[in-house]
Amino acid sequence: MKVAIAADHGGVKLKEEIKKYLTSLNISFEDFGCECDASVDYPDYALPVAEKVASGEFDRGILVCGTGIGMSIAANKVKGIRCALVHDTFSAKATREHNDTNILAMGERVIGPGLALDIVKIWIETEFAGGRHERRVEKIKEIEQKWM
Ligand code: RB5
Repeated sequence: MKVAIAADHGGVKLKEEIKKYLTSLNISFEDFGCECDASVDYPDYALPVAEKVASGEFDRGILVCGTGIGMSIAANKVKGIRCALVHDTFSAKATREHNDTNILAMGERVIGPGLALDIVKIWIETEFAGGRHERRVEKIKEIEQKWM
């Protein structure tokens, strides 16, 4: 599993925690920024991660900003991306099983690092359930074909 990760200034501290955690889990990742405290624009960091995941170069992506909202909106504009904004463990499991999400977005200003790391682990480890959910994901792809 190869994970692409990025954050804006509102999510950079949590990004660093997640990187340490992925290392402890022996999960390979690449950091697409940002590195600084200065104010940056979250779409500039969502885009490279979304493109790397959409192209298949990376299996999954993790995006962090202050709320996770801006990152998730931007990532979902890229064809092939299903990005879920998640702040609880139930949704982390459900969005992998039901939506086959390939990017996880979280807000550093919304949750603490303990919960965030639990969410990362569950989201990384949970497989897509397929079955009736496959049909629904296919319908999402049909919407992409129509509008993107
Ligand atoms: C930056 O202040 C903040 O707007 C950003 O991190 C994010 O929360 C946007 O959705």
